[in-house]
Amino acid sequence: MIEHRSNLTRLTRRVALLGSTGSIGTQALDVLARFPDRFDVASLSAHQDWESLADQALTYSPQRVCLSDPQGDVSSLRSRLDGTSIEVLSGVSGMQSLAGDPSTNTVLLAVVGSAGLPLALTAVKAGKVLALANKESLVAAGAILMKCAAESSASVVPVDSEHSAILQSLRSGNVREVRRLILTASGGPFRTTPIVDLEDVTPDQALAHPTWSMGKRISIDSATMMNKALEIVEACELFSIGQDQVQVVIHPQSIVHSLVEFCDGSLVGQMGHPDMRIPIQFALTYPDRLESPAPSFDLTVSPELTFEEPDTERFPALELGYRAAREGGTLPAVMNAADEVAVDQFLQGKIPFPAIVNTVRQVMDAHKIKTNPEIEDVLSADLWAREEALRCR
Ligand SMILES: NC(=O)c1ccc[n+]([C@@H]2O[C@H](COP(=O)([O-])OP(=O)(O)OC[C@H]3O[C@@H](n4cnc5c(N)ncnc54)[C@H](OP(=O)(O)O)[C@@H]3O)[C@@H](O)[C@H]2O)c1
Repeated sequence: MIEHRSNLTRLTRRVALLGSTGSIGTQALDVLARFPDRFDVASLSAHQDWESLADQALTYSPQRVCLSDPQGDVSSLRSRLDGTSIEVLSGVSGMQSLAGDPSTNTVLLAVVGSAGLPLALTAVKAGKVLALANKESLVAAGAILMKCAAESSASVVPVDSEHSAILQSLRSGNVREVRRLILTASGGPFRTTPIVDLEDVTPDQALAHPTWSMGKRISIDSATMMNKALEIVEACELFSIGQDQVQVVIHPQSIVHSLVEFCDGSLVGQMGHPDMRIPIQFALTYPDRLESPAPSFDLTVSPELTFEEPDTERFPALELGYRAAREGGTLPAVMNAADEVAVDQFLQGKIPFPAIVNTVRQVMDAHKIKTNPEIEDVLSADLWAREEALRCR
């Protein structure tokens, strides 16, 4: 479960922001910059986008930056930062060095994909507060990650708006009193599109999320609802709860970010504007709250709030999420890795939209699950699933 060390809430947080050039990363910088007394931006990273990383470094003056792609243009980054005292690192070893840096106490992990897993492990083994946007690491190796966190007194605090909402709602009770966790989902851009038309949707249509502006993978995952499948597993791992206690409801307005139903029938949820800076800030200040630039939410002018049962024919990914959470072992890592490849194939125009979830299902069907996996088992299942997903055409 999520722990917090109350002494840290009073100290300046020295933050390693990994994935700073992405959607979460740039919004996190907005949050960090508002509280210079509370946060010190110790390090930043990008994968390939060295120009944005250089701009951020010159604005926020971290001690270190890293360009993680081994083929990235690190020499151009070095030239841009020449004359500053900013140290430039590169590659996987550079990222590991930032994740475990003894001079930081907080890692905000905002890289996309299972590349986040080794970084999450390094951060928790080093006893950091891990503000975790990278849900893929919890999906692939949740049990291992949470065990390492417990052993080193690290805290894992979710950035995902749904899990942040649950964490906030759980402050009204405790996990033993939970009847159900209710994850809300917008339903994405194809909630009402005729199912036969999904065969022809383009990447641009699938990327156009109705309520959130996000990176490419999570936008496509929201359109297929594979994002919610990942979030079912994420919720089970974070809150130590069975998948049969997790319900998904479609809530197109994205105002109620998720709810907890307690054993006495009370529903406690968290609402607000769909603005990721709110859960990002809460993950960084947890268990405290600080002022935010989010405007007050006016209930009297809000849209009608509606909730509906997900259509499982339209969104077959949901069942895969429940299955991955139920069967466990290496299956969630396989689900995530196959999806990563299939999304990439769709974005490159190589497979049609419905083939994303079909690919994931085929790879999951073909997988021989290893129970109670070690990290090596998870990594090899991830690799196997990637190769298998490429074979599914
Ligand atoms: N966006 C949201 O609103 C949102 C909400 C909830 C959860 N999340 C989760 O937050 C994470 C980040 O999402 P995002 O939407 O911010 O993604 P994004 O916009 O695509 O940004 C990804 C970031 O990770 C870096 N990166 C890409 N591949 C990498 C690799 N192999 N190794 C290390 N770094 C890599 C990117 O660098 P370059 O810029 O150089 O490519 C960029 O800084 C995901 O796990 C997502 O599921 C996002």
